Amino acid sequence: MTKGRLITFEGPEGAGKSTQAAMLIARLEARGIEIIYTREPGGTKLGEAIRGVLQYNAAGEAPCPESEVLLFEASRAQLVRQVILPALERGAWVVCDRFFDSTTAYQGFGRGFPVELMETINRFAVGEAVPDMTILLDVNVSLGMQRCAKRQAGQAMKYDRIESEALEFHERVRQGYLELARRYPERFRQVDAMRHAEPIADDVWRLVRDAFFPEG
Ligand SMILES: Nc1ncnc2c1ncn2[C@@H]1O[C@H](COP(=O)(O)OP(=O)(O)OP(=O)(O)O)[C@@H](O)[C@H]1O
Ligand SMILES: [Mg+2]
Repeated sequence: MTKGRLITFEGPEGAGKSTQAAMLIARLEARGIEIIYTREPGGTKLGEAIRGVLQYNAAGEAPCPESEVLLFEASRAQLVRQVILPALERGAWVVCDRFFDSTTAYQGFGRGFPVELMETINRFAVGEAVPDMTILLDVNVSLGMQRCAKRQAGQAMKYDRIESEALEFHERVRQGYLELARRYPERFRQVDAMRHAEPIADDVWRLVRDAFFPEG
């Protein structure tokens, strides 16, 4: 058994995962807890190289959908062994900006690979590093896209490869996440992310506090 806690943020593009992860980390650090922040894909040298391949076709060709799944899992397996498990073992808390539910949502519900197959490969990749809590930031596709467009305004490359998928793809991803939250209620906490960042952060903090600091 590990001593630390693993908290993951999930949700569609522009849900505010990176924003909320930073806000939660600030509150946890104020309690004197050592926090490791990671993002997927990436977080290790191998993982960052894979990130370039997945997001911007850095290898010179787009991965086929099967390769895409395995590249995500390769990045994840490396992150778990090199970063996440060692951190948890020394008592640090790990906050992940996306983790294995992204594969289930995007490649399973989004691309149409069997959801159970994605979950099986996920379990192989992560071993015992199953999240203690997964915060699903739910946002509708158009608002999420608006936020991403605003963030990227003025940049040469407006959308990465996955962000450029059809709206129906992103809608399936959103619905897939909601289904996962229903399927795993003990792990998932769903938060309405279609609000200002501060009330969302307050809700996230309340959920984390209630689960991990019941004494207050
Ligand atoms: N609650 C919010 N209301 C309005 N804008 C927000 C809110 N949360 C984040 N933003 C802004 O929207 C953009 C997307 O937020 P953020 O990068 O945190 O989302 P994300 O879920 O990490 O996106 P991605 O899936 O692309 O990584 C950023 O420019 C951020 O400043
Ligand atoms: Mg982000």
